[in-house]
Amino acid sequence: MEACGKILKKIIGGEKVNLSDKYPFMATIWYYEGNDFNFKCGATFIGRRYFLTAAHCLKNREQKKIIIKMGSCYLKKMPVLLEIERIFIHPDFVPSSLKNDIAILQVKEDIPPQYNFPVRLPCTHIQNYCYNIGHTVRVIGFGKEEDRDRAKFVEQLKEVDLRVKSMEESKYHKSMVTNDMFLAGGIKGNTILDSCTGDSGGPCLKFFHDCWVLVGIVSWGDSSGKKDAPGVYTKVLNYYYWIRSVCGFSHCNTH
Ligand code: ARG
Repeated sequence: MEACGKILKKIIGGEKVNLSDKYPFMATIWYYEGNDFNFKCGATFIGRRYFLTAAHCLKNREQKKIIIKMGSCYLKKMPVLLEIERIFIHPDFVPSSLKNDIAILQVKEDIPPQYNFPVRLPCTHIQNYCYNIGHTVRVIGFGKEEDRDRAKFVEQLKEVDLRVKSMEESKYHKSMVTNDMFLAGGIKGNTILDSCTGDSGGPCLKFFHDCWVLVGIVSWGDSSGKKDAPGVYTKVLNYYYWIRSVCGFSHCNTH
């Protein structure tokens, strides 16, 4: 099936998404805790039985205690539930610094055909320009709208456009942000635009030649919604060969 063929045409600040099939590859990770599944993170369907997410979303978790839900822009109305066959955490993931914060989930069954619309992956360095300072990228997620413990995850998927930022625009020390990460943030009026708790693992996208391309994964930030502390994203392009070695394919956009 043609990747992203269905495309017809957290977030702090940002807009609610109404079109349920605008981002058909958006998926969510839930943990079995107590006797219920709780939403924890975002993930992205990349094709066959594979999903990409942040490694920190999975650490210390047994695969039988995690499920993926997808198929709706409403968090509590996801029609597709998928059990995990295997978890591939990047071998160089460092939990303390979140270096190489990327992981692949393989599910036990095929994705139903009506939901089988994977995102494209960035490949070679054609898409490198997406990471240039000032470039606009889009982040989607069910993350909190405020960085407070008591704030709830949003019911309806949100989207926000952010600008790729330079290190000078942040207070982060250069040792914290590797070449495999990039910064993105924004401002609209007085509101800082950012991803937040619950957006982790979810997609940072670029619309490229009629397809959504997964350029980043929500990884970390020093609290959310602070001007000099933009969100930090895993640079998916740098993991092209690792993804291909795990999944045996990469639906890349070669235009
Ligand atoms: N680590 C967070 C999570 O687990 C996401 C953090 C993003 N933070 C930010 N300021 N953009 O959901």
